[in-house]
Amino acid sequence: MTDAPQTTFEPLVFSGVQPTGNLHLGNYLGAIQRFVAMQDTHPCIYCVVDLHAITATLVQPDLVQQTREVTAAFLAAGIDPKRNIVFNQSRVHEHAELAWVFNCVARLGWLNRMTQFKDKAGKDRENASTGLYAYPNLMAADILVYRATHVPVGEDQKQHLELARDIAQKFNNDFAGRIAELGLGDAFFPLPEPLIQGPATRVMSLRDGTKKMSKSDPSDYSRINLTDDQDTIAQKFRKAKTDPEPLPTEPKGLENRPEADNLVGIYAALSGDTREAILGQYGGGQFSTFKQALTDLAVTKLAPINAEMKRLLADPGHIDAVLKDGGERASAIAAPVMDAVKDVVGFLR
Ligand code: AMP
Ligand code: TRP
Repeated sequence: MTDAPQTTFEPLVFSGVQPTGNLHLGNYLGAIQRFVAMQDTHPCIYCVVDLHAITATLVQPDLVQQTREVTAAFLAAGIDPKRNIVFNQSRVHEHAELAWVFNCVARLGWLNRMTQFKDKAGKDRENASTGLYAYPNLMAADILVYRATHVPVGEDQKQHLELARDIAQKFNNDFAGRIAELGLGDAFFPLPEPLIQGPATRVMSLRDGTKKMSKSDPSDYSRINLTDDQDTIAQKFRKAKTDPEPLPTEPKGLENRPEADNLVGIYAALSGDTREAILGQYGGGQFSTFKQALTDLAVTKLAPINAEMKRLLADPGHIDAVLKDGGERASAIAAPVMDAVKDVVGFLR
């Protein structure tokens, strides 16, 4: 290796949410609530990843409205767009530009291992878009074009983040000589760290405790949407699948009881209480009692977010201005990084 000084990277958080409709409790607890918490300790960039939104379904019903909805959810949940950067991905062309370079860094063998592609492509793999296949490379570019160091996400993104680290590492290794020659230190990209934390990193469907809560589940009863009103939330929790046993008094008793475990996990993430404390209170009792308490808690937490989203969406001009301002500030960071990538790769500019 060279004796170039060891590069240290300033801590920076990056994460993204796709504007593909039906934002749900899993998105909120696994991602957005965590995004809000991170802004107290780190500078953060939160992105509405519209380029990702067309990978599974090319023609979206209303990408503009869907983009505004995710932005409204970010702001309503408490993300401060002045202190942080909030923008939509397609405004900052460096994401797509770096993704192309990463298409040439990542190996076919790496992408072939991605389980989400297999799930999303389903049986008709020949008919999946090449964008869906290469999507993890774009995701790596999203993070690394800011040289972000920490990425809060739900469990389902873990494998994609491992790939992002592999891409960063291979770029650093393959171009080590050039990076040192240009005086860019001993590593150009940080290896971004996944932050998969809290009691709700994988919120499950309310109809089937072995399936992830997802935007695309055909049954609306499988999920709590951030736009659901109080009555709908109550009805969905009341109908949520459970088993016939009462709640256990200790977390160990939740093993092999995925539906019960999921509801207790949701309660824990909404309240900030531990599973122990919750089961201490509700263990041994009927599910119906616990479900009523869960409903009350969810409504208390979600109703203000719901109301604020509505208020924000009534003024799209404000949302669009937030995204434009965020896009400009994001570009100011991404542009010099992309210029340096061009120098490292050896493009004439
Ligand atoms: P997506 O809707 O796929 O763009 O996901 C946005 C964020 O929400 C990502 O960080 C996901 O990991 C997270 N997420 C999505 N579904 C769930 C779930 N069921 N439980 C926890 N986190 C989730
Ligand atoms: N792939 C993520 C999802 O579907 C969204 C995403 C795109 C993302 N780019 C990202 C998350 C960068 C974190 C960092 O949920």
